[in-house]
Amino acid sequence: MRLTYLGHSAVHVETGDYSLLIDPFISGNPLASVDVDELTPDYILITHAHGDHVGDAVRIAKRSGATVVGMVEICRALKPQGVGTHGMNIGGFFGFPFGRVKLTPAWHSSSFDDGRYGGMPTGIVLEAEGKRVYHAGDTGLFGDMQLIGSLGLDLAFLPIGGNYTMGPEEALEAAKLLRAERVVPIHYDTFDLICQDPQAFARSVTAAGAGECLPLQPGGTVEL
Ligand code: NI
Ligand code: MN
Repeated sequence: MRLTYLGHSAVHVETGDYSLLIDPFISGNPLASVDVDELTPDYILITHAHGDHVGDAVRIAKRSGATVVGMVEICRALKPQGVGTHGMNIGGFFGFPFGRVKLTPAWHSSSFDDGRYGGMPTGIVLEAEGKRVYHAGDTGLFGDMQLIGSLGLDLAFLPIGGNYTMGPEEALEAAKLLRAERVVPIHYDTFDLICQDPQAFARSVTAAGAGECLPLQPGGTVEL
């Protein structure tokens, strides 16, 4: 499995013959490392309805034919815009052709930019090729991350920007609870309010023995 950080919370996952995007905020993202019209995913996974996470999902899905996966309320809102959807809710796994997905809790909010309710905000656990990846979405710190970690995680994407989500201190505690082998910080430096030092965060994770922290530049890749 190859995972490429695209900036903000956007991640491109290549697994087997499948291409997946998580939270494809590309055209409005000053840090985006790719051209939105070059992405041809088979599936688009969305953590919550905020504009910096739904992003270009409809534009990309209409062109590539990707199926949008996320909370039922998000799917209900996007389906009339002409995209295929697979609605889920917080709970158990569903098996897709590329692997399994489950939605986890996240402490945040979730409405579309026009105010429509987007259901509960979520994190995502993705299993494929015998690997397990957690993308926390936007969230504050919560103790049940320990339960998510008990699945055994190869990689965790954790927001460190503060203000809207966990900052570096909370994300360090999250890394300790999750016990993932690798940690990649996300959701920082995109806007003035969420500027952080990912190298300092990485040093704190290493010092705590909370996994190998990889502060990826947009376009940077991890192979699992
Ligand atoms: Ni958000
Ligand atoms: Mn966000």
